[in-house]
Amino acid sequence: MTAPTTVPLTVAPADAVQEIEFDTDFEAKIGKTLKLYPNSQAALLPLLWLCQERWGWISAGMMKAVSQRLELAPSFVEGVVTFYTMYLRFPPGRYLLQVCTTLSCQLCGTSDLVEHLKKTLAIEFGETTEDGRFTLQDVQCLGACGEAPVIQINNDYYTDLTIESLDQVLDGLK
Ligand code: FES
Repeated sequence: MTAPTTVPLTVAPADAVQEIEFDTDFEAKIGKTLKLYPNSQAALLPLLWLCQERWGWISAGMMKAVSQRLELAPSFVEGVVTFYTMYLRFPPGRYLLQVCTTLSCQLCGTSDLVEHLKKTLAIEFGETTEDGRFTLQDVQCLGACGEAPVIQINNDYYTDLTIESLDQVLDGLK
């Protein structure tokens, strides 16, 4: 199988997204999205996803802007963002390593991969390397159990991993 070419995330630093105003281009995307849903509340998840695609994560400023734009209570928006783990509430590194730690992957060697990653990158789950390159996160089943163990890096799946093939993948991302 040909390895995917993983595109680095565009990540806005925290001090750049304390206050957010949606520009014309972003408003156009919001308008297009809103047309697909019966009401603004139903468009909350995709709008948050648009924010994460653009800025790399969801800041408090983005939650406020989204709540104003959709006329929803800020606490409702925050509740949704904190419920779904796919929304990042911190700026990740350029490569977000989401390691599946559910049963099938565990049975196929994820624990060894996790130990190797933590040692090689010198970070724990939820942390980012000092150079801002990698963030390590543990996630539940990625739905590719037949090709375990699996790590999602940004938008790409890397499957049937071994320590050796994982090292090759990481080298290709440097
Ligand atoms: S258990 Fe890892 S992809 Fe399903």
